[in-house]
Formats: sequence, structure tokens, C-alpha cells
Amino acid sequence: MPEIIEKSSETTADARMSSYEEAHAGFSWGDAHALLAGLPDAGLNIAHEAVDRHVADGRGERLAVRWRGRKGERRDLSYRDLQASSGRFAALLEQLGVQPGERVFLLLGRVPELYEVVLGALKARCVVCPLFSAFGPEPIHQRMTLGGGTVLVTTPALYRRRIARIRERLPNLRHIVLIGRGGALKAKEQRPDTVDYHASTAGLDGDYEIGPTPPQTPALLHFTSGTTGLPKGVLHVHEAVVHHRHSAEVALDLGRGDVFWCTADPGWVTGLSYGVIAPLVLGATLVAYEGEFDAAAWIRLLAEEGVQVWYTAPTAVRMLMKLDSLLPERLSLPALRFIASVGEPLNPEAVRWGATAFGLPIHDNWWQTETGGILLANFRSSPVRPGSMGRPLPGITAAVVRRAPGGELTLLGDDEEGELAIRTGWPSMFREYLGRPKKTAACFSGDWYLTGDLARRDCDGFYWFVGRADDVINTAGHLVGPFEVESALMEHPAVAEAAAIGKPDPIAMEVVKAFVALRSGHVPGEALRRELQGLARKRLGPAVAPKEISFVSSLPKTRSGKIMRRLLKARELGLPEGDTSTLEPPCPEPPGTALPAPESPRAETEPAGGRP
Ligand code: PRX
Repeated sequence: MPEIIEKSSETTADARMSSYEEAHAGFSWGDAHALLAGLPDAGLNIAHEAVDRHVADGRGERLAVRWRGRKGERRDLSYRDLQASSGRFAALLEQLGVQPGERVFLLLGRVPELYEVVLGALKARCVVCPLFSAFGPEPIHQRMTLGGGTVLVTTPALYRRRIARIRERLPNLRHIVLIGRGGALKAKEQRPDTVDYHASTAGLDGDYEIGPTPPQTPALLHFTSGTTGLPKGVLHVHEAVVHHRHSAEVALDLGRGDVFWCTADPGWVTGLSYGVIAPLVLGATLVAYEGEFDAAAWIRLLAEEGVQVWYTAPTAVRMLMKLDSLLPERLSLPALRFIASVGEPLNPEAVRWGATAFGLPIHDNWWQTETGGILLANFRSSPVRPGSMGRPLPGITAAVVRRAPGGELTLLGDDEEGELAIRTGWPSMFREYLGRPKKTAACFSGDWYLTGDLARRDCDGFYWFVGRADDVINTAGHLVGPFEVESALMEHPAVAEAAAIGKPDPIAMEVVKAFVALRSGHVPGEALRRELQGLARKRLGPAVAPKEISFVSSLPKTRSGKIMRRLLKARELGLPEGDTSTLEPPCPEPPGTALPAPESPRAETEPAGGRP
């Protein structure tokens, strides 16, 4: 019987979806669509749903965005403020001659204007393309060229550091809108195509009337990088808002008036779908924090802002776990009622840690840039299965399938491992990889979308992540998902994070190698290595347990918090590192938590266990 964490009726009595089974049985996309206001002629525009409809319904004075700066500054935007400022930006685009369908790229951190610009561009029926503000010039150039960006919104500082030197290589780019925090450009840096955001929008009318927006109008373009090759531009349409609203309500237990914090970077799909759109559509207050991860600052923010629903990522949870001895009594957060995590497998240990540290289990959920929103989740009203991604949302049909070389699919039964597939037809399904019809077609077979993730379903309908199809390790004929190895290692109290890769081996084809980062106060060494190997053998058996373990101070991760196993593998094998444009610079350790340097490189690479 799989482990479950039962929740008390006190914590689930007022859940927005009280019975999973009933919600599933009674669900229709038509009903979900009908909860939105819509535009004339069956139109649907994300920005109208996010702000204008609330103002029209008399909720304009409610707090839409509470922005907190790095130095503790605070700025509040009501729904009415946001309606007017987004309207003014839409009017500016129109004044500049920007047409519906043109792509507006954003290179911005979490500044208050981000929300105005995203919604304004959607009102003007342009396609919003967010970039990570930490991208260097080349990844920006690559994505703007692939996406044919004609407008870029950024800050003078980012313009100077990232754009000035590639400007001549962006012939499609016609307008650069600068949000002048930290000073405007100097006179000699000005060009005819640069526009000051505040000065140019100041005199414009904020009462912008959104033009006709059929639901299939393109709205969002997110770049996602595969393990190799060029990033792909994943295109979503305005109809996606039906799923943004529905999924946030049932999977995040979010509703009108709730205080919600999504920690995702706005350059990542989570940062737009749930960091901007869904909470506003539901009439919640979104908390935005300008700074990066900082355990103490985050906990303080949760407390000070009275966050009720918190959506974060496994990396952040593991970082908090790593430091929890340094965050003693701060974990009392009476307002907090729901915590969810996405982006990577959430180890069972992290779910259990949440239950102890916050008095709430952490609810894992699953989705992809291509799916536009959450499709599998552990729900507030149901028991949590630690280590499982949960069950399909009402309206979603999932399956585990095997693909034959000819493309035919076999649907597999319970407990069989295969590729996770989703029946097509949910509203936030991506419409295409921009300009790559063959790549798009390869993701579909009949009426199934194939996710590229390996999973299995248990007999109660819960889905368990096995790995990305391309991360799976083949050791002596066993297919090993890195996640199971990592979760076993995470059970050791010294381990904060772990990553497993397959290392070529003449006998076993591959052997499992693990990289381990320790929690504060633990020191790497041979004794600990043996202990971890013993634990892994006990949990996983000798065939699957790592043959090698290296201690590292942190693991390489993408800016959205995913462990870059392929990078660890390339480094281990001395191969080219490939596209590292999304690599997050290592997080500085807070004072007193730095780990000793890794042991000598020789000790790092020597197998610590025998061969199978
Ligand atoms: O491999 C799965 C992993 O992240 C991939 C999607 O990445 P991206 O498009 O950047 O994410 C968008 C929003 C989440 C998936 O194919 N992934 C995501 N969530 C989980 C996960 N793996 C395991 N468990 C999860 N909960």
C-alpha cells in the first residue's frame, strides 16, 4: 500500500473542490468556459478576464498586485490601476503602429510594470514572449530571431548590458520600450527606436477597448530548450485562459480574495500562467517579490504578506530543507493553507518535511510548457501520496502508453512503465512549435499528446514520475529513473539535493553515478559516502544503487529550477556542454552554511562500489 498523508478535515473542509470524483464526473469544458466573461461575438481575451471584467463587475478597488522590492519597498496595484496602466500600454503599442499578432518580447525582472506590460500587450492582441532577465546577449538574440520579435520591453540597465551589442543583428526589432528604473539612457545612447515607457504612456487614455479576439488568437510564446538543438517556441492562444482559471481553482485551491504567491521567474511559463494570469482571472491578490531565492527573506515575506496559497518549486523546498536548522521558529505561518510545487519531481522526503515544518504537506503537480497549465495534481481535499505527481484534473484524460517504431500506441495497464500521454482537446494545449510543423506533429499520435516523460500509474489512478525519456539510465538491463535514486538518497538526513546520471560502462552499459549536496552542518567524507551507498542499496537493491557518489556544494540547475542532469553527464564525460543558456548561476550560500570544497577530483571519479 503506498504511503499517504491524510489531512485533517480542518485543513480541507473549505477546499474549492470538495470531491475529486464528483468534480471529475460532472465536468465539462463548456461549463468552465462559461465562468469567464468573454467579449462580443464569442471573443475571449486573457487581459479582459484578468482585469477589465473585475472592474466592470465593481471589484476595481481590490488589490490585484502587491509588489515587494529587494529592499523591502512595497507597491500596490488595484485592479483599476492595472486596467488603466495596461490600457495605456496597449494604446502606446497602437500609437507606435504595432499590429495584432506582432511579438512583444519582455526582458524584465519582477518589476511592477511587468504586469502592466503583459496585460497591455494582450489587450493589443500582440503575442507576449517572456525571456529570463538573466539571459546573456546570445540566448536573447537566438530567441528574438526565432520568434521574429518586433518590440522589446526592457530596462535601461539590461538594454546596455544585453541588447546594445546585438541590436544591429536584430533587423525585425522596431521598438525598444525602456522602463526607466535605475535611470534612463544617456543622450548618446538614445536611438530613434527607443521609447521611454513612463513618459510615453503618461498622457494616453487608459480606457482601452480591446478589439475582436477570437479564442484561437495567438497570445503567448514561451521558449523551451530541449536537451540538444535550438530552443522551441511554444505557441498558446487566448483560449488557454479557460484552463488557467480552472486549474488554479482546483489544483491550487485558489479563489477570489486569496493572497497568492507564485515564486516562478516571469521568464518561465509558470511565471506567466500562474505568476500573472490565473490569480488575476480568479480575482486573487498576487504577491510579487523582486528578489531571488533567500530563505530568510522568503519566510519573512510569507508571514508579512499573510500568503494563503504558495506555489513554488522543488529546488526552493530543498534549499529550505537544507537550511531549516537556521530557520527555527520562523516556520509558523498561520495564514498559509496550501503549498504546491512544480517543475521537477518532488521527493517524498520533501513532502514529509513540509508536513513537519509548515504543518502542511507540499502538493506536487505536473505540467509542461506545451500543456500551458497544470494537468496532474495532488489536491487539497484528497490525501497526498508523497512522491506522486497526483491525478488528472477534471477535464483531463491521461494514460501511460508505449510507442511502436511505426508510431502506433498501446495503452498500458496499471503499474506498467511507459510514456505519459494526454488526450488532446484541453484549452491550453500548445498550438505549434513556431515554424516547426514536423516537430509539432511528432508530439501527437491520433488523439493523444505524447509528453516525452516516462511515468507509471498505480491502481488508484495516481501517476508517478520515472524520468524524462532522455534522462533514463540503462544499467545492466534495468531501466532506472534518476528520480528513484535521488529520492532514496534524499532520505538520509545529511542530503539536501541529489542528482543521478548514467555513466557509460563496458560491462553494465551504464552505471549509476550520483552527485550529492549536503545540508548545512554536514561534512562530506568516505564514511558518509559508504553510509549513503548502504542506504541506497537497501532501498533500491544493488543493481540500481549508485556505484559512484560525488559530493558537490550545489547542483547545476536551469533558471526554472530543474537539475541539469545532461550537464552533469557532459562534465563527467568531458563532452561538450551544449546549450547552457538557461543555466542558473550557483546560488551563494548564506553565511555559515558554505560547504567545504569537494574532495579531490581523483576521489570524485573513483568508483566506490563494485561492478554488478
Ligand atoms: O519532465 C517534466 C518536468 O518538467 C518538464 C516540463 O518542463 P517545463 O516545460 O519547463 O515546465 C513547465 C511548467 C512546469 C516535464 O516534462 N516536470 C514538471 N513538473 C514535474 C516534472 N517532473 C516530475 N514531477 C513534476 N511534478
